[in-house]
Amino acid sequence: MVRLAAEIEQANADYHGADAPTMDDAAYDALKRELAGMEAEFPHLAAADSPSGKVGAAPSDAFRKVAHSVRMMSLENAFSAQDVADFVARIRSFLNLAADAPLAFTAEPKIDGLSLSIRYEHGRLVQAATRGDGTTGEDVTANALTIRDLPHELKGPDIPGVLEVRGEVYMTHADFAALNAGGEGRVFANPRNAAGGALRQLDPAVTARRPLHFFAYGWGALSEPLGPTQSGAVERLAALGFTTNPLTRVCHAVDDLLAAWADIEQRRATLGYDIDGVVYKVDDLALQARLGYRSTTPRWALAHKFPAQTAWTRLDRIEIQVGRTGALSPVARLAPVTVGGVVVSNATLHNEDYIAGRAADGTPIRGGADIREGDWVRVFRAGDVIPKIDAVDLDQRPAEAPAYAFPHRCPACGSDAVREAGDAVRRCTGGIACPAQAIEKLRHFVSRAAFDIEGLGSRQVEAFYSAGWIAEPADIFALSRHREALLATPGYGEKSVTSLLAGIEERRVIALDRLIFALGIRHVGEQAARLLARRYQHWSSFIAAMDAARGETSDAWRDLTAIEGVGAVLARSLVMSFAQETERAAIDRLVAELTEIVPAAAPKTEDSPIAGLTLVFTGTLERMTRAEAKVRAEAMGAKVAGSVSARTDLLVAGPGAGSKAKKAAELGVRVIDEDEWLKIAQG
Ligand code: IVH
Repeated sequence: MVRLAAEIEQANADYHGADAPTMDDAAYDALKRELAGMEAEFPHLAAADSPSGKVGAAPSDAFRKVAHSVRMMSLENAFSAQDVADFVARIRSFLNLAADAPLAFTAEPKIDGLSLSIRYEHGRLVQAATRGDGTTGEDVTANALTIRDLPHELKGPDIPGVLEVRGEVYMTHADFAALNAGGEGRVFANPRNAAGGALRQLDPAVTARRPLHFFAYGWGALSEPLGPTQSGAVERLAALGFTTNPLTRVCHAVDDLLAAWADIEQRRATLGYDIDGVVYKVDDLALQARLGYRSTTPRWALAHKFPAQTAWTRLDRIEIQVGRTGALSPVARLAPVTVGGVVVSNATLHNEDYIAGRAADGTPIRGGADIREGDWVRVFRAGDVIPKIDAVDLDQRPAEAPAYAFPHRCPACGSDAVREAGDAVRRCTGGIACPAQAIEKLRHFVSRAAFDIEGLGSRQVEAFYSAGWIAEPADIFALSRHREALLATPGYGEKSVTSLLAGIEERRVIALDRLIFALGIRHVGEQAARLLARRYQHWSSFIAAMDAARGETSDAWRDLTAIEGVGAVLARSLVMSFAQETERAAIDRLVAELTEIVPAAAPKTEDSPIAGLTLVFTGTLERMTRAEAKVRAEAMGAKVAGSVSARTDLLVAGPGAGSKAKKAAELGVRVIDEDEWLKIAQG
């Protein structure tokens, strides 16, 4: 479904954005129908931003971007009473408040919808924007004007010059049911997806037919304060004409917060709209300001989630899917059951050990109960993740049900499926002789970060494979041999065939990192491919190095594993792929089709003060996660290493930096703090 959606988005972008259609209408409609069909069958897998819910162009192009003047934040999650107690204790300690000093909080439902920021100037609604990535959202003003809970004009005296009100857009259960029953051609998985689809409609008339609601719970930019407390400010929002949640209350201690949580959870089923937890906020706004923000969440708020929702159902069958690297992935086919408002009919079973109820090291899973076909199982969903099975009812197990025998042969090609020591996954040894692996490998090969061939998406790959035209990547470059047959294929015309073949020709010139990534070698993701390309520069040196690295005592092996980010597992998988005869022959055939392998582009240096430098992060970063810092540094052309050495150029040391800071001092490495780092990172 993700792949189909990506192909449709690409076609939309080509058609609307670039004004250069790459697909004829029939092929486009067929893709849209296939996706809509899958979404109707597996509504819980429908993406909130699925192209099915959009008209015409991809909304990212269709909606104007809005930069939020005050960032739209997310919330830290908590799942237990202990988490809540810790939250309160952390705040007291941060503010240096005695255990008995008064500290009030608000507690209110966490609405399961989409956040929206609406700007009023001199009392008039002038703009509404989605959260987007928190910094930049999409301008959905025309659609927001159809939301009845949003006043177009603010009420009362003392209207602020500027008010950005923030809150959640949602759809009620009743409106959701009516929409799905109404035959608009699309079945939405849940009210949240339906609300998302409605809010991002290109035609506000369509939004207006899908009733949306809004609860105000916060604010962004303000010309003057709304009051001294969170609860007071929310009351003021109500006075200005907004709908605020009637279950909001003020609490004074951890027990109070937990009581509010229990009370709201009890009312959950009768509210008529989805909530997924309770949000606690420090009531005193002066204290909120002192507490401030972490990188994406405020220190003064907490989302106390409700436990994952579960349901019992029958597991009908266990099916095995074969992936690109030959991994056999078991999937449970379930008698459809509603879990938290979503119909679930599949669940992941991860691997052989998971089914057997015991991890490789002997640790029991689900108390050691294995899973058999015909079992009653408990399915749970937490947020948007794929459903899982967390319990088996052994009392209801049919007497004759045999233990599940995980196949030792690949269901797609019959080759041996083997498990390597320390690997929980059983893999097909058929390589590209296995149709399932071959198709997945080809799909990977043409994917966006790999060869990204225009007009050759995963559906085409599958069709061309079935037709016998392409069995391995090299065959793609010989597709022109099948020009006549292609022309005779439904959905293809002179124009589309010509442009497909031209798209393929274009890719005979390819960047080294893309080529390495495209080979689909286990453990070699985009990032590793980039590192390898940067290290070896040219295909010939790369391949020579792979050959020379076969012995793990060789210099070439040491060289390879010395690359920061390339560990022994990755290196072994890489070297093995090149050593394996059939795989190597296929790689050689592919390379023979290419006219130029471009060395990886050197990072731009002009505007990045850290391009080419090796950075190490240590200690705690307060305003940017370590992961974010790493991504940012790499985007700016720097290398990020895990430890300080003579090759380190710069150490970013947060509070608590220990031995690394010492070592840096010894080596004379330049050390900067988080503030300085942020200056660099933010350009
Ligand atoms: S306050 C700076 N209050 O939950 C704090 N958020 O998981 C901003 N949400 O992005 C959020 N109900 O979209 C707040 N009563 C509530 C909420 C709420 C739902 C959403 C909001 C936020 C997300 C974080």
